[in-house]
Amino acid sequence: MSDAKIVFTRGVPPPEAFPTDELSECFDAAIKNDPAVVLQYGQQPGYVPLRGELAREYNVPEDEILIGNGSLQLQDLVSAHLVREGAAVFTEQPSYDRAITTFRRRGARTIGIPLEEDGINVDRLEAALEREVPAFLYLVPDFQNPAGATLSLEKRRRVVELADRYDFWVIEDIPYRKLRYKGEDLPMLREIDPTHVITMSSFSKLLSPGIRVGFMLAPSALVRDVTTLGENTYLSPVLPTQAAVAEYLKRGWLAPNIERLKELYRPRWEAMAGAVESELPDAQAFIPEGGFFVSVMLPEDANTDNLIGRAKDANLVLTPGSAFFADPDDGDAPVGHRFVRLPFCAVTEDQIQEGVKRLANLL
Ligand SMILES: Cc1ncc(COP(=O)(O)O)c(C=O)c1O
Repeated sequence: MSDAKIVFTRGVPPPEAFPTDELSECFDAAIKNDPAVVLQYGQQPGYVPLRGELAREYNVPEDEILIGNGSLQLQDLVSAHLVREGAAVFTEQPSYDRAITTFRRRGARTIGIPLEEDGINVDRLEAALEREVPAFLYLVPDFQNPAGATLSLEKRRRVVELADRYDFWVIEDIPYRKLRYKGEDLPMLREIDPTHVITMSSFSKLLSPGIRVGFMLAPSALVRDVTTLGENTYLSPVLPTQAAVAEYLKRGWLAPNIERLKELYRPRWEAMAGAVESELPDAQAFIPEGGFFVSVMLPEDANTDNLIGRAKDANLVLTPGSAFFADPDDGDAPVGHRFVRLPFCAVTEDQIQEGVKRLANLL
């Protein structure tokens, strides 16, 4: 392979993942079938038929569903609603970089609780809860961004039990959950006990990020408050995209599209797992059973000085690991400089092999 640039920064679907023809058919039908609603202001909690589809899938009443312009917007609105200036928000450490930024922008002290291969360290979470109760705990329980970790069943039970005992919200953000390449689903936190759980997900990774359709499931009072905040922010949701997704679901096209995506991504996932094992044997690797990301914690003696700059010189683009780290829970400096996220969906198997080799040569 040449020394062409390899990009390991973006957790995005590649263009070949988009169901372009099907989506354009659904946009066409959605606008033609219901123009008086779809092209008008209104339906603030989201397009009614899409809420109906989601209500059936998740077995919740429609007033517990809010659809927004991507799930990040909903994270932002929920933060604006729940966070008082200086309040604590807990995340996994590392966590999704944009979520950390969003919570901080809303005034939260964002505190990272160490992440293990089977999810957040629950003993450390409990110790942190003894010190203070956060506005919410933000988790990505399935195939986490950035690390790839999945929360075990036992820890899922303990997290909802702690949320009940200490009375705080848990956001379970699950955009990758349906992209499982191996193994069995674990229950969502809300399936164990929905009392304190806000579930967020999105069609970004299953259809297209550009359409900006994400949703949250939460108790109706919270949905009502966040809907009002949304209405005061953007007046009306973007109904044509929501209607196109409703049409897509109504036609029964989502499940086959997910199967197609898994076929596309599975060889890339295998290639990344294999490359990390063979090229970075001394690193602590997180190899998930699904999703978009493998990650590694490099050994303490690895040369991480200016790693991003030296990688760039080698035509390898990496995200700085520290971007995924919130404030530490115990005063120790975070170890973000040793953390490398390796998204595998938007790169070819050759690029994966070559890119991981370049990374190994820098250490
Ligand atoms: C964990 C997680 N949550 C939310 C998002 C954003 O999703 P959306 O496009 O629905 O705003 C992403 C995107 O990468 C993500 O990884």
